[in-house]
Amino acid sequence: QKFDVCILGATGLVGKTIMEILAERDFPINKLYPLASARSAGEFVEFNGESIEVLDADNFDWSLAQIGFFSAGGATSAKYAPIAGEAGCIVIDNTSEFRYDDDIPLVVPEVNPQALAEYRNRNIIANPNCSTIQMMVALKPLHDAVGISRVNVCTYQSVSGGGKAAMDELAKQTADLLSGKPVETKNFSRQIAFNVIPQIDVFLENGYTKEEMKMVWETKKILGDDNILVNPTAVRVPVFFGHGESLHIETNSPISAEEVKDLLSQAPGIVVCRNDEDFPTQIGNASGKDETFVGRIREDISHNCGINMWIVADNVRKGAATNSVQIAELLIKDYLS
Ligand code: A2P
Repeated sequence: QKFDVCILGATGLVGKTIMEILAERDFPINKLYPLASARSAGEFVEFNGESIEVLDADNFDWSLAQIGFFSAGGATSAKYAPIAGEAGCIVIDNTSEFRYDDDIPLVVPEVNPQALAEYRNRNIIANPNCSTIQMMVALKPLHDAVGISRVNVCTYQSVSGGGKAAMDELAKQTADLLSGKPVETKNFSRQIAFNVIPQIDVFLENGYTKEEMKMVWETKKILGDDNILVNPTAVRVPVFFGHGESLHIETNSPISAEEVKDLLSQAPGIVVCRNDEDFPTQIGNASGKDETFVGRIREDISHNCGINMWIVADNVRKGAATNSVQIAELLIKDYLS
């Protein structure tokens, strides 16, 4: 059985990566419809060695597709996802638009595949935030084994999380600075080249940014545990691909670093870097891969139920495109075949 699939945001970074991953994983596609705004309708994108014309989403008949991958920003999803869902196109949405609605499943296939059944409510499935996804993959086996009461997390997030324009800005600022030209800043609140910025998304009333609160809200929903406490700081770093996260985890009962390494080694989607000096980084480990890499696993010397770890994953792949395609694979396997 093959499926007709549309990609909303097909000219963007995540949309293009979704098409690459669909081809890589041999997803059973009958017809593929790349969609974007009127700005780029008529352009061509590559899929599986073929050039396919981009269509204007505004004129698309959503009933032509059985599955839709949406990554064209929250406002665009708000406009089209309900119409697509009504027309029978099951939407896998990469934006934060529907993530916190009670009747919309928020899914990481390795962590809460059972939640997917709720797609039937509105034909919309939400893909979590990139920083949440990799943290969930690493936390789930520990939460199941000993229970996690609290997580302090600090992120080191690459600019690709902000889309193509953000990547272009890091490249241009770096080149301009190295050739003595003035720097222009548009997509970030500060210069990003040779700098780190402790702000991702907007500030909320409680002093946290929206990116930080996404990690708090989404962790509770995905793990199905309202009691788990998350205290995040989200930081943008001048790296193109891959997010790093430093985690300080408080568990309900003590667990040794060796036990954590054993547990994570057996869990799906994780590569454990067992030796201290083999810690993973964005370049050389995570970038271009689909697994979540975990290293620096050690007992917290300041807390008897504390574990520290460093985790890295490719935010455009596992943090967005790969996770969406895995959701679609699960959907066709368990519900559409
Ligand atoms: P377009 O090329 O028409 O602007 P990125 O995340 O890399 O910035 O990409 C954003 C993606 O979302 C692009 O494919 C862009 O298409 C698409 N997009 C943005 N706004 C809209 C809109 N209003 N309708 C349809 N697609 C949109």
